[in-house]
Amino acid sequence: MVAPLKVGIAGLGTVGAEVVRLLDQQATTLATKSRRAIKVVAVTARSKAKKRGLDLGGVKWAKSPVALAEDGDIDCLVELIGGADGVALEAVEAALRGGKSVVTANKALIARHGTRLAELAERSGGALNFEAAVGAAIPAIKTLREGLAGTEINRVYGILNGTCNYILTRMEQEGLSFDACLKDAQRLGYAEANPSFDVDGHDTAQKLSILASLAFGTKIAEHAVNVEGISSIAPQDLKAAADLGYRVKLLGVAVRTKTGIEQRVHPTMVPKSSSIAQVMGVTNAVTIDGDGIPPITLVGPGAGGAATASAVVADIADVARGLRIAPFGRPVASLRSIKKAPMMHHEGGYYIRLMARDLPGTAAAIATRLAEQSISIESIVQRHENGDAEAARGRGKRSGKGATNPVPVILITYATAEDAVRRALHAVQKDRVISGRPQVIRIEKN
Ligand SMILES: NC(=O)c1ccc[n+]([C@@H]2O[C@H](COP(=O)([O-])OP(=O)(O)OC[C@H]3O[C@@H](n4cnc5c(N)ncnc54)[C@H](OP(=O)(O)O)[C@@H]3O)[C@@H](O)[C@H]2O)c1
Repeated sequence: MVAPLKVGIAGLGTVGAEVVRLLDQQATTLATKSRRAIKVVAVTARSKAKKRGLDLGGVKWAKSPVALAEDGDIDCLVELIGGADGVALEAVEAALRGGKSVVTANKALIARHGTRLAELAERSGGALNFEAAVGAAIPAIKTLREGLAGTEINRVYGILNGTCNYILTRMEQEGLSFDACLKDAQRLGYAEANPSFDVDGHDTAQKLSILASLAFGTKIAEHAVNVEGISSIAPQDLKAAADLGYRVKLLGVAVRTKTGIEQRVHPTMVPKSSSIAQVMGVTNAVTIDGDGIPPITLVGPGAGGAATASAVVADIADVARGLRIAPFGRPVASLRSIKKAPMMHHEGGYYIRLMARDLPGTAAAIATRLAEQSISIESIVQRHENGDAEAARGRGKRSGKGATNPVPVILITYATAEDAVRRALHAVQKDRVISGRPQVIRIEKN
């Protein structure tokens, strides 16, 4: 009979407490599947006194996460504290240095130190498993690392932040503003009191950098992700997108281009008929485009104690089975470095919303500036204040004594380079035929 895998859990919050419960509930099944029992022998958290509704009778309380990691009684450290640095990092390093395996749900830690930690695991022989760090219960990491090990990946993209998808879904369905939806998300516990990490795209960027490394065999490069958030999106953009057959999602996209790997996070228009466009509310999704196979989309809960615990426990079961897979699917020495791909070199279709002044020559000036940059227009729509759209030939709506309100004009371009779009719009602004700043949203075709 093989001795049980002895587990130490650091962090007993939303995820940690669920992991303790799930390991207990599934003990028999897990022992059968892994051919080895899994036993929680020690835990730690900030407060020993806090009531957690867990039965921790017979389980040791370690005085700190590092003490837990160094405890000779444990084989596997499960790090569920969070944060890129500090005690989480110290404990993980201590465990790996001591030849133990590590399971973590900590995307910040992996995005910042993943390559170095993988090297440490490789040297000491421990596993470093982090399935829950991206998309919680969605097995995106295993799919890229193992399921598609023999497939050349060209692009991986996804909805990786439930808060942003919840906000964009409500804005689209109810015509509400970004601020109103954010407040609701905070009230319902979907958004933090300080939401900028989520809504400015940084949470998505960390997860994307992990997926990109697995997909393309590159060293994790969080700093090489171009990041834009969703706060500039207006309900009128979502309405216009819907009329044109698109939805707007905050996507993290990593793609192989002629010049290298492009990693970017930004609001993106996706065809309404695409799988990713069907993903609403707090749900997450990851789409993988591989050579010779149609895109694969995995959809599921990207957060929550139970969903995250599901992936953490599966990772622990892999350790119990004795599975040791290189954390990024290949030896660290073979991972390539990548540089930040300038967004100005990005090529694709663009949605552009301009607030056109009702002046003679406005339409001609806009058309000229776009033509100067060889930008071809797929469609052009002028929207009235009541939201109705028509081909752009009408005049601005007169308000009061002969004054005119600027009229939204929506352009969809064919694939073009981002620097051409930016140069054209800069010239249009200088011509003073529009008011305010143009809204630009990139289009991702499936
Ligand atoms: N929540 C999710 O939906 C979700 C989804 C995917 C991934 N994750 C990741 O899972 C990890 C845990 O998230 P969570 O939501 O469970 O966080 P949480 O509810 O805030 O729990 C954090 C736990 O860490 C403990 N802790 C904090 N600082 C500590 C320290 N210095 N020493 C010892 N223990 C310390 C806390 O102790 P006390 O309880 O005593 O305060 C608490 O038990 C994070 O990396 C997060 O990114 C979470």
